[in-house]
Amino acid sequence: MTHHTPSTTDDTTGIAALSLADRAGLGSGRNFWQTKDIGDVPSITLTDGPHGLRKQTGGVDHLGLSSSVPATCFPPAAGLSQSWDPGLVERVGAALAEEAQAEDVQVLLGPGVNIKRSPLGGRNFEYYSEDPHLAGALGTAWVTGLQDGGVGASLKHFALNNQEHDRMRASSDVDPRPLREIYLRAFRKIVEDARPWTVMCSYNAVNGVPVRHSRELLTDILRGEWSFDGVVVSDWGAVGGRLRSVAAGLDLQMPSDGGTADAEVVTAVSNGQLDEDAVTVAAERVTALARRATAARRETSFDDETVEKHHALAREAAARSVVLLKNDGADGRHILPIAASGVTGSVAVIGPFAETPRYQGGGSSHVNPTRIDSPLELLKERLAAPVTYAAGFTTDGSGRDSGLLAEAVEDAANADIAVVFLGLSPDQESEGFDRTDLSLPPEQLGLLRAVRAVQERVVVVLSHGGALDLGEVSDLAPAILDANLLGQGGGAGIADVLTGEVNPSGKLTETLPARLADTPAYLDFPGEHGHVRYSEGLFVGYRWYDARNLRVAYPFGHGLSYTTFEYDEVFGQPDDDGDGITVTVGVSNTGRRAGREVVQAYVSVPDSDQVRAPRVLAGFGSVTLEPGEREEIEIHLDRRDLEYWDVRVGRFVLEPGRYVVHLGSSSRDLRGSVEVDLEGEEVHVPLTLESTLGEALAVPAVVDALGDVLGGMTGDGGDGLGVDMVKMMASIPLDRIITFSGGAVTREQLEELLEKANS
Ligand code: BGC
Repeated sequence: MTHHTPSTTDDTTGIAALSLADRAGLGSGRNFWQTKDIGDVPSITLTDGPHGLRKQTGGVDHLGLSSSVPATCFPPAAGLSQSWDPGLVERVGAALAEEAQAEDVQVLLGPGVNIKRSPLGGRNFEYYSEDPHLAGALGTAWVTGLQDGGVGASLKHFALNNQEHDRMRASSDVDPRPLREIYLRAFRKIVEDARPWTVMCSYNAVNGVPVRHSRELLTDILRGEWSFDGVVVSDWGAVGGRLRSVAAGLDLQMPSDGGTADAEVVTAVSNGQLDEDAVTVAAERVTALARRATAARRETSFDDETVEKHHALAREAAARSVVLLKNDGADGRHILPIAASGVTGSVAVIGPFAETPRYQGGGSSHVNPTRIDSPLELLKERLAAPVTYAAGFTTDGSGRDSGLLAEAVEDAANADIAVVFLGLSPDQESEGFDRTDLSLPPEQLGLLRAVRAVQERVVVVLSHGGALDLGEVSDLAPAILDANLLGQGGGAGIADVLTGEVNPSGKLTETLPARLADTPAYLDFPGEHGHVRYSEGLFVGYRWYDARNLRVAYPFGHGLSYTTFEYDEVFGQPDDDGDGITVTVGVSNTGRRAGREVVQAYVSVPDSDQVRAPRVLAGFGSVTLEPGEREEIEIHLDRRDLEYWDVRVGRFVLEPGRYVVHLGSSSRDLRGSVEVDLEGEEVHVPLTLESTLGEALAVPAVVDALGDVLGGMTGDGGDGLGVDMVKMMASIPLDRIITFSGGAVTREQLEELLEKANS
């Protein structure tokens, strides 16, 4: 999957010769969506957004309020991620590039790869996962597909924009390890492997510093460590005054502020407040982007044929992203697929989402779809049995409607099976605000109870962007399909899976918790007074539930199929250079239908000296098998997914020792494992007088010398240093030995010892 888009041009000729005012001018937009054309630097258009093109023609805004040109609405990231299919995501990226090219758009504002820290995050539907490996792998595919089509990506929202509440101000206060191992990890992978043309600087602050002012994030880490060579663009309206941002490494302020900040930049350079070089470098980067993007322009049109082709891809993506959460039996048969479950009478379809599907989220990613598939229409078309429809409830928040309820219950009672569409309405989740609970509206649960009272065979289809509390739904419904948000082809995708034309293979990319109170960020979300403490540390998503051994409703990685798979013994070996690990396993289709299995590789380091989650996703792959077929699948685990961030030395380290790779069908359905020893690297932290006795005793070169010195302290030549004595004294800093020995051990003696230890 690793792919480097060749830099078509880093042509910045002539820019240093432009006037300061022109160079400053290149650092901000000419309007809401375009950069300026200055000299021979062309203007380019940047626009939203990750799952479809939102090119506005009339009014402009960053909240999806004014209308935009028709474009294919692919599944939003939350839905698409459930495919666990980088190849498919890459094809979606390529289709987006075609539509952007046809509309003369040079940069598409996506992908959004922020981690779903809390299931309440209002914009979780725009993000891939609670897991950084998965978000990184899918984001890499998306950027690759898009940029291979000559359109630049804008990797967003960099960084730690994990909530909507107070998003333009709040500080995400996070420790170094979760910062590196969880929150920056997907960004790093995508920058290193797919080389996005731009990265979008988020609104929020990190550890008290607004990201737009953070040289550490925008320059030291992004460019210094990850070799990013593109443009850092502000999120729309993230920058007020630009001076500190330019100094930190921000290149392009969007949208236009009418030239106010450009003028401030010129003045600041003239009076020595801002380094002119920083302005020139930013102008050069914007120039290189504009020239590269212009050179990559292609003549295409979004004609009827392309509209059809992309709709077909949207349908395929939707069907592949459906997760079958539950499929119990009735009369010895699974409820789903409907066609095979022995339905002879009618099918009662219930719930307004069947007729008017919920298929995308609100805000800046809101796409004007070319068409919308209705699940109800497609079910009518495809099922041999008669299909009835009743709304059962409304989505306008007006509560229980007894008339609608009675109709739905009557239909359900007279049918062979009831398919009940439940979910969240658009006003319950959107960019700009977070949710406050995980519940489905009470009128929907009331309807489900009433339907279940008259009909045993109930299938629930869920439409929602954020995770839901499924406790009662799971108790009532023998079958549940999680349709998340599936884009304009979602209706077809749902019908395909319900009827059995497609065997579901989607898997959850976010844990569905048993209770909101069990979730990792519960006590620190959304923070207060402008600060959010990421107190759960590394334990985000399934890492938390596994470490605390908590029951969940449906685990990360879960998803059923209409067939069954068996795994053989797992094999694994370190790469020749000892860095990564390659594992293989045979998978067999042991059921009666062709199907696809997503195999997930989780790593544990049981003897680790570091704080670690019990298991961490480090790779995945998939295999499609006919009934009775067996195939071997190979999964490579990259060194970057095995390392931890060592705060003592401020870098990633591959810890030496035994790694256990578990292969599973979900994070809690592990089918086999293999142990692999990695040489890794020892970390040598220089000893100081602040080091503890325990730390000093871990350095073989000083053990004897230390014994002698301590002999001076105990007066028995160190013989009295039994195991317990060492344990008791292990946490005493070395310089304190001077005091405790009453001066018998001297500072000089210790310093000599340190010199020896550190040499
Ligand atoms: C959003 C970005 C979006 C931008 C432009 C902002 O409000 O956070 O994701 O790309 O607006 O619409």
